[in-house]
Amino acid sequence: MKKAIWLKSPVETGAAAITFSGSVSVKKEVLRATLSATSIGVYTASVNGNRVGNRVLTPGYTSYNNRVMFQTYDVTELITDKTTVSITVAPGWAVGHIGFSGREKLYHPHVLAAFELEVCYTDGTSELFVADESFTVSTSEVTFADIYDGETLDKTAPIVTLGNAVIEDAPFTAVPDNGAPITEHESLSPIAYIVTPNGEKVIDFGQNMTGYVTLRIKGKRGERVSFTHAEVLDSDGNFYNANYRKAKNVITYVLDGEEHVYKPEYSFQGFRYIRLDEYPEGEVDLNGFRAVAVHTQMTRTADFTTGNAKINQLYHNIIWGQKSNYLDVPTDCPQRNERLGWTGDTQVFCRAAAINYDVRRFFEKWLTDLRLEQGEDGRVMGTCPETYGTCSPISRISAGWGDAATIVPWTLYELYGDKQILEDNFELMRGWVEYMHSAGSEEFLWLGGFHYGDWLAMDAGADSYVGATANDLVATAFFAYSTSLLIKAGEVLGKDMSYYRDMHTKVVAAFREYFMENGMPKDEFPLTEILPDSKKSSSDTVRRGVTQTALVLILQFGLCTEQERPALINKLVELIDEFGGRMSTGFLGTPYILHALSDNGRTDVAYKLFFNENNPSWLYSVNHGATTIWEHWNGIKEDGSFWSTSMNSFNHYAYGAVADWMFGVIAGIKVTAPAYKEIIVAPMPSEKLGFARAGIDTVSGRIESSWYYTADSVRFEITVPDGTVAKIVLPNGYTETVRGGKYCYGISKNI
Ligand code: BGC
Repeated sequence: MKKAIWLKSPVETGAAAITFSGSVSVKKEVLRATLSATSIGVYTASVNGNRVGNRVLTPGYTSYNNRVMFQTYDVTELITDKTTVSITVAPGWAVGHIGFSGREKLYHPHVLAAFELEVCYTDGTSELFVADESFTVSTSEVTFADIYDGETLDKTAPIVTLGNAVIEDAPFTAVPDNGAPITEHESLSPIAYIVTPNGEKVIDFGQNMTGYVTLRIKGKRGERVSFTHAEVLDSDGNFYNANYRKAKNVITYVLDGEEHVYKPEYSFQGFRYIRLDEYPEGEVDLNGFRAVAVHTQMTRTADFTTGNAKINQLYHNIIWGQKSNYLDVPTDCPQRNERLGWTGDTQVFCRAAAINYDVRRFFEKWLTDLRLEQGEDGRVMGTCPETYGTCSPISRISAGWGDAATIVPWTLYELYGDKQILEDNFELMRGWVEYMHSAGSEEFLWLGGFHYGDWLAMDAGADSYVGATANDLVATAFFAYSTSLLIKAGEVLGKDMSYYRDMHTKVVAAFREYFMENGMPKDEFPLTEILPDSKKSSSDTVRRGVTQTALVLILQFGLCTEQERPALINKLVELIDEFGGRMSTGFLGTPYILHALSDNGRTDVAYKLFFNENNPSWLYSVNHGATTIWEHWNGIKEDGSFWSTSMNSFNHYAYGAVADWMFGVIAGIKVTAPAYKEIIVAPMPSEKLGFARAGIDTVSGRIESSWYYTADSVRFEITVPDGTVAKIVLPNGYTETVRGGKYCYGISKNI
């Protein structure tokens, strides 16, 4: 974009979408024409009445006060002698509601538009038409639009010219789009029409998802269709959307008597069901309804199938959790009044995500914003884009959340092998480590402060948001881990990392001194951290060290010696047994617990947790009809009641991080040198699965690992791409190192 002149409406237009348009004269023969456009708010663009491109929710969600992306479209085919260019802008993330407490206008009090048309002629000359105050502003058919609250598309609304656009000297910087486009994907037909016991007319699309419901309908002029969304029905079969909190998610279409396909273009919803609150007289025509999935374009790179239908459903749920929450930023959930780029959730899931899909572009964009929002002292906030501003009484900087700064770049480097990712993000990583270095009351321990901790863990009482593990322990463990990743990144880049190696040694020593005794975590620590009032639980005064999560972090982050491992793993198994053979881990312990068990010789226990069907477990939600991953292990309790209304998303991808273990241990594919140039393939079969078949389309080629049982043996088939060295390790201990090719083995099933 050459000029980016920011235009606003001459009058206040609230939450309605408005159209900026103007005509330009194109006098010569056109070789190529390019439209560049952006907005503060979300926009759609058209040339001579034709909607341009197939992207939705442009310009995307960025840290707007640092940068707003512009998109460019080839519009050569649409140009005429007199060409009308227009863009319609609605409040979107920048001006509408976003974040907590009903906040709106976080970035600007009203929408803005900036666009220009560049025309290159066949005679070698070119012209730039920049939208300015000669362009006009008018109302549109979209009389209301808000990311959380939904949209009203009124085909009968009079289009009124509001006057000429006004140039605003706005502080926004337009930059080229460095993300992948947000586009429409699956289009699902209804699977059922339900009249609930309460008499509500409900349509079930069979899949929890993110996007919107489109409707092909004619109707009479002035008739209305209005519906709201839900992820689940309650135990009586009634429509339930209390978990959306303040987000209304209401879509209203006002019909004009002609047939159209109506769709919201300036908002999105997370849902499986809709409740028809208004619909023309007569029978509901289900054929007109479609649920359209919307997310960032990513190439699928993995597949995973077993002989166990519940596990296959779990993987399906993980995939749909990712699709639903990779909508331009990695969101926690797509439905309630959050949909924020929570850094903790992002780091927890990013490895699974990068196996499932090629997420390089997606993260290149998000990490750009993370870098821009990093504080001078290296702080990384709980969400990116940051939405708390100065409204929060406590700072939202938390261990396990800010560590997205180190974990995401390192994970992407490991899986894709592109050093540029580390180049781009080295200072982000270093800054975060330095922040931790100075955050605590002790140089090498992060004590005190605000943390989300082992969020939603089950060991501090079933209804607590905060787990029992001492946040000081969690914070210092992540300090050590992030420092170790920084060192690895620096070494790849050829930097002198001796200062950080020394820091790491000291953090590990301080951790062991303060939190451990005789190779075990100590158990009781004083409460030092700040907890938000609403999050206090009965265990607030004592914080624990002997918890599943503490043991898992000690084992996985290398905070113990090799000699100490057997006792630690025994203790972990003991705690699992004491908890009824179940996990009690939350956001920070869960992604690692199965790995901690498998890496230390207890895949048997890992499988027990994996196959467990009681709360908390992955299969609990599958048994309760989940089609995506739930925020809470028991979002719907055994008695059919709901966990809570305030934190109960049924489409939260975090616990889907288990996909990493499914590929890494069930199929056994683990990366040991960047870009899968070196791998271990050590599948761990289980008769309960019958067979497993997994494939990953890596940047080095396709890797496959499958196994199946015969009457008395297990057969393995492993495909290694050319250029990759694979160490194959079978459960009977047979090991060989191979290069590109297909390898088949059989071992007795009684090993
Ligand atoms: C979000 C989480 C997030 C958390 C911070 C919640 O409201 O939905 O997924 O990480 O806040 O603890």
